[in-house]
Amino acid sequence: MSKLGVGIIGCGNISTSYLKLAPLFKSLDLRAVADINMSAARAKAEEFGVRAETVEDLLKASDIDVVVNLTIPDAHFAVTKAILQAGKHAYSEKPFVLSIDEGKELRDLAAAKGLRLGSAPDTFLGGAHQQARSLIDAGEIGRVIGGTAHVMNHGMEGWHPNPDFFYNPGGGPVLDLGPYYVTNLIQLVGPVKSVGALATTTFAERTIGNGDRKGETLTVKTPTNIHALLEFHNGATITLSASWDIWAHTHRNMEIYGETGSLIVPDPNFFGGTVEKAGEQGGFAPLDATDHPFGVTNLKDNAGNDRANYRCAGLADMATAIDEGRPHRCSLELALHAVDVMLSILKSSDERRMLDLTTTCDQPAALSPDEARALLA
Ligand SMILES: NC(=O)c1ccc[n+]([C@@H]2O[C@H](COP(=O)([O-])OP(=O)(O)OC[C@H]3O[C@@H](n4cnc5c(N)ncnc54)[C@H](O)[C@@H]3O)[C@@H](O)[C@H]2O)c1
Repeated sequence: MSKLGVGIIGCGNISTSYLKLAPLFKSLDLRAVADINMSAARAKAEEFGVRAETVEDLLKASDIDVVVNLTIPDAHFAVTKAILQAGKHAYSEKPFVLSIDEGKELRDLAAAKGLRLGSAPDTFLGGAHQQARSLIDAGEIGRVIGGTAHVMNHGMEGWHPNPDFFYNPGGGPVLDLGPYYVTNLIQLVGPVKSVGALATTTFAERTIGNGDRKGETLTVKTPTNIHALLEFHNGATITLSASWDIWAHTHRNMEIYGETGSLIVPDPNFFGGTVEKAGEQGGFAPLDATDHPFGVTNLKDNAGNDRANYRCAGLADMATAIDEGRPHRCSLELALHAVDVMLSILKSSDERRMLDLTTTCDQPAALSPDEARALLA
């Protein structure tokens, strides 16, 4: 297959992962980067040997087929719209959009122009999550009836040098980290039917702990402590706790309960980790990893932990899907349904009632070890 020319808009924190990891994938040729802050674009371009462009020039560049939107959540809709209007395929970081209407407008624009539109997260394509998926699909724990998902810590202002977006509408633990959890639940269990939640804000201010703005105080403008209940179309009911107000807890990231057994699924913010399984006799046992290539440790994170990081896998799957004329897994429908779940969680708390969702989606196709290998260079 021929490679797609890839450009990036948004040269902040996460762009480093995309620039570092794109060369792993045979369908991607990362050629140029842009940012409203030209010096940020120049710094990344120099570090990774690609062109630095203005946003306008990147959108006009004839060698760029797909543009990745790595701007802040508040800019996702406008930047993705500009990418599509420029006649290029678009792939956005999460959260895909901040309203269902925005998502539908982008869906219609992409359809009218015959362009693909995809969105992170792609961590559900990781080895551990695909192992859990294949166990569920094979009936190893029976029909899924319940589960828990917990993503709780004390927030992002300690490490991110510009943490403003985390505490503005569009941020908060549900819209920022929720996408990993909600998307993985959809790929494991299927679409969500209704949600109910309570959301609170414990700390009105946050103090930046790293970088040039260390010591600066931010006002918190979105809930930071959320407890939600998700009802799935297959009848399963799953608890989701997402908080940046918690100093410590003992819950596992994700547990899935079936009629004949249970699974512990590792953190869906990452591609790898160990799946644990229990049968009708109880007692969880760790499972050996499969030969899935997206579960293999390939780098260390900032804290020195070994990680399997294959960010760009969803983008590479979309590029390959364009070539093969098949649907891509990190699809608009999946991303929009996940956004609907997350926004409805916040709305449910505001209105103090359960809400039925207005969107749905198909479970994304599983990604087998062979299909994952075929994406790699
Ligand atoms: N930082 C992470 O670890 C991480 C991980 C996964 C996903 N994400 C997601 O990636 C996105 C970016 O996060 P980040 O941490 O890199 O943010 P960041 O603030 O470090 O970088 C964002 C960059 O986008 C640029 N930008 C903002 N608006 C723009 C516009 N309209 N046009 C062009 N450039 C614009 C900014 O100048 C900045 O350089 C967010 O949606 C976030 O949720 C971040």
